[in-house]
Amino acid sequence: MPKAKFGKQITMKRFLYYFLPVPIRLFARRLYFLPIDTFDCIFGKRPDGVPPRGKIFIGHGDYIKQGEKFLSYFQELAGLQTNHSVLDVGCGIGRMAVPLTKYLDKNGSYDGFDIVKSGIDWCKKHISSRHPNFRFQYTGLYNQLYNTSDKVDASNFRFPYDGGKFDFVFLTSVFTHMMPAEVENYILEIGRVMKPGAKCLMSFFIVNCESEDLMIKQPTHMNFPINKGFYRLHSSQVDTANVAYDEEWVFEKLENAGLKMETIKYGQWCGRQNFFDYQDLLVFSKSK
Ligand SMILES: C[S@@+](CC[C@H](N)C(=O)[O-])C[C@H]1O[C@@H](n2cnc3c(N)ncnc32)[C@H](O)[C@@H]1O
Repeated sequence: MPKAKFGKQITMKRFLYYFLPVPIRLFARRLYFLPIDTFDCIFGKRPDGVPPRGKIFIGHGDYIKQGEKFLSYFQELAGLQTNHSVLDVGCGIGRMAVPLTKYLDKNGSYDGFDIVKSGIDWCKKHISSRHPNFRFQYTGLYNQLYNTSDKVDASNFRFPYDGGKFDFVFLTSVFTHMMPAEVENYILEIGRVMKPGAKCLMSFFIVNCESEDLMIKQPTHMNFPINKGFYRLHSSQVDTANVAYDEEWVFEKLENAGLKMETIKYGQWCGRQNFFDYQDLLVFSKSK
């Protein structure tokens, strides 16, 4: 297959951003948004339960709208119910948890873990304090984009939950920032902690014939120029800036974990005309 060309995706601003050590990057974000965050604070412009922009380290998009949109996907695509026990792997700064506080009832519960401590601290202070059935854990694991202070390898990490605990597990824009051995381990762990019959929704950048073709024809869309065989990288500076995986590899790993395909909704990222969301969404279930 011909190699995809380098797209226009890495702007000079992002290029420079990736040069900064992770803690400085997070600090630079706080500084950049300080004027608008101060304005919002003084004039009461920031809605209750939303972090200041400088603290939202998880990417672009409207914090509230993205969370609400995914809550509707969880219901439509994975049959989320109000009394479900839910696991949010890589929960960031609570973007998916906030709308779930209005959806899950007292018989439902939410657990989330992440490797960025400031995100977990914000969630504990602003979400768990008001919703005791929402629990957050900081798990100090290495990631070249998000946490270089901890050296613990995510490819051997055991999720801090008993087996068969959750009705619904989700990862939104998390496997898109993880390396293959880590993804493989997490898929096995997801299979372990799901109840029989439970569902899991995961977002990926999936490379198949169609997305490969689109990446070549439309290199100005999201692109993965560094081809490592069954996975590809977006940036040569930071491996986990964005990672795409070959479809067959992902399916094989999910099958090995005892998970069965329910739904795939391909995304717009590569310039696809018929798409569902930006990233590809996969829903898999554990047999009963
Ligand atoms: C783009 S953000 C998405 C955050 C959140 N899922 C959301 O949609 O708002 C990617 C998240 O993955 C987390 N992450 C990266 N590697 C991880 C790992 N090994 N275990 C758990 N979380 C991880 C990052 O810390 C970051 O919060």
